[in-house]
Amino acid sequence: MPSNDKKIKWGILAPGRIAQSFAQDLLSINDAELHAVASRDLKKAEAFNQTYQGQVAYGDYQSLMKDPLVDAIYIATPHAFHKTYTLDCLEHGKAVLCEKPLGLNSAEVEEMLQKAKEKNVLLMEALWTYFLPHYQHLLDFLKKGSYGKVLSVEADFGFYRDFDPNGRLFDKKLGGGSLLDIGIYPIFAALSILGMPDEIKAKATFFKSGADSSCDMEFNYKNGAIAKLKSTLLKETPTTAVITCEKGSIKLNTQFHRPTSICFTDASGKEDTIDFGVTTKGYNYETMHFNELIRDGKTESPIMPHEFSRKLMQLMDEVKEIIGLRYY
Ligand SMILES: NC(=O)c1ccc[n+]([C@@H]2O[C@H](COP(=O)([O-])OP(=O)(O)OC[C@H]3O[C@@H](n4cnc5c(N)ncnc54)[C@H](OP(=O)(O)O)[C@@H]3O)[C@@H](O)[C@H]2O)c1
Repeated sequence: MPSNDKKIKWGILAPGRIAQSFAQDLLSINDAELHAVASRDLKKAEAFNQTYQGQVAYGDYQSLMKDPLVDAIYIATPHAFHKTYTLDCLEHGKAVLCEKPLGLNSAEVEEMLQKAKEKNVLLMEALWTYFLPHYQHLLDFLKKGSYGKVLSVEADFGFYRDFDPNGRLFDKKLGGGSLLDIGIYPIFAALSILGMPDEIKAKATFFKSGADSSCDMEFNYKNGAIAKLKSTLLKETPTTAVITCEKGSIKLNTQFHRPTSICFTDASGKEDTIDFGVTTKGYNYETMHFNELIRDGKTESPIMPHEFSRKLMQLMDEVKEIIGLRYY
């Protein structure tokens, strides 16, 4: 565990699109630094380091895991490889922050969580929204209960991309499809606000690759609450989340999964919008939390505990079962 006067040394495994945002925000954190980057292409890792002030470049992933100076590894491959590389990193005793979804199904997630437990090493799913100021504010507000019981959660996430059979979003071998990639956010919203549903309905459309192009979900709860959730790669959608309560409603403005403002409307119709003034892309919040966990010698996050990742995947598995989607 690094002493308090030592910076936490991060390694990035797979410097793709999201890894750039992660590295950009890492620059805003004082007690951490980008130590090493590993790509299947050494030149790419070197170029990434030039931009984001990394120290060491590796042309393969295993060398990064073996680097004794690395405290934490951020895994940003397509979903299909999250399990393999997480298991390898944990085996090497590295704390792992793995991109969402943690795995392709519950069996994979369970294997990853068990490995973290067995090695007594920190593992967290990088569901960054959970750590953002607006989302934490929302959860605190709901906990206080001033708007009464939550009656419904309506959340969507949609954008359009031209079909590319080899692209990460469309190729089932890479874990492609709307549900696992972006449907995870509306599901996350329902799970974090309403908990596990008692009944799930879902229907989907599919690309010719077999990956789901859109997925409409309805979660029903014994207490009468309902969640209407949607993901689509076929069109732009508002990408907002609306939480309706007995005595008011709360709207997480677009795009609800990233730093954004919240509009509160009380029973009289009075509106109040809060802007949280986030100046980064927002990835620094999950990273700062992770750094703290490392310094405290923790193996699990109290905000994003293993059980939450387990439930999130369980819900996606249930939806997959209903729509007839299997990855292998
Ligand atoms: N938290 C967020 O806001 C957010 C946003 C977007 C994506 N994500 C998650 O981050 C992960 C990566 O998404 P991305 O959009 O960054 O993907 P991306 O741009 O395609 O990058 C993925 C990287 O993985 C590596 N890789 C290893 N094996 C690969 C293979 N067989 N095919 C393709 N790439 C392979 C490649 O790096 P090298 O070739 O350099 O090794 C590639 O650059 C996904 O799991 C996604 O869910 C999260």
